[in-house]
Amino acid sequence: MINYQRYTIEYDPEDHDTWNKLCTRQHDLVASVACQEFFPGIRRIELDYTRVPDLATMSQQMQRLVDWTLTSAENEYLADDVWFEHLRARRFPVTNYIRRPHELDFTPIPDLFHEYFGHLAFVSDPRFAAQAEAFGHLYHRVPPENRLEVANLWWFSWEFGFIRQSGQLRVFGAGLLSSPGELRYALSDRPPKIPFALSQLMSMRRSPHEYHDAYFVYESFDQIDDTLEALRQKYLA
Ligand SMILES: [Fe+2]
Repeated sequence: MINYQRYTIEYDPEDHDTWNKLCTRQHDLVASVACQEFFPGIRRIELDYTRVPDLATMSQQMQRLVDWTLTSAENEYLADDVWFEHLRARRFPVTNYIRRPHELDFTPIPDLFHEYFGHLAFVSDPRFAAQAEAFGHLYHRVPPENRLEVANLWWFSWEFGFIRQSGQLRVFGAGLLSSPGELRYALSDRPPKIPFALSQLMSMRRSPHEYHDAYFVYESFDQIDDTLEALRQKYLA
């Protein structure tokens, strides 16, 4: 049972302790597998592992770095239409909920650790910020019946994507970088890691509440830009 009274921005010492445990443990877990852009991004946003981030302060930091702001996601999964509208307007939605201490390994709803630890390292880089904004614009420009393709590309890249760097498999997706359980599973031999192919995008199954059947591996971040352009050509040319 979810206690909605926990949805507050008044964090107590226990919350800061949970945040600290999440950060330090996940830092160690991803140290050897995160893509090379990740830790420079964590340093760029000056993520403090000892205190739960303050939305307003971090929003100012993002504005200074890439002219984006943070906005409250109201502790819910946002519908695709709402999500991509925020990205188009250079706003990154973040929750303010932090899981309870006994939920370190698993939280039934996404908490703020996902966004601050998993996403902002990338969004704070102008190159990635531009890509996220491009997702937002493209989503709203393609015909409604094709929007799921754009949403799936986001999901299987920014949320759950791998990337090959210097011949090594590296983690890019925030859903993996912020989840100890799915990260271990995804790195194991069990789920296939498939070279990205646009033709297979719609056969991938999004599963926000359980581990995924398979993951895409990108050759570069340019490949994601190129795919956005391919979708633009396919539906708007
Ligand atoms: Fe996410």
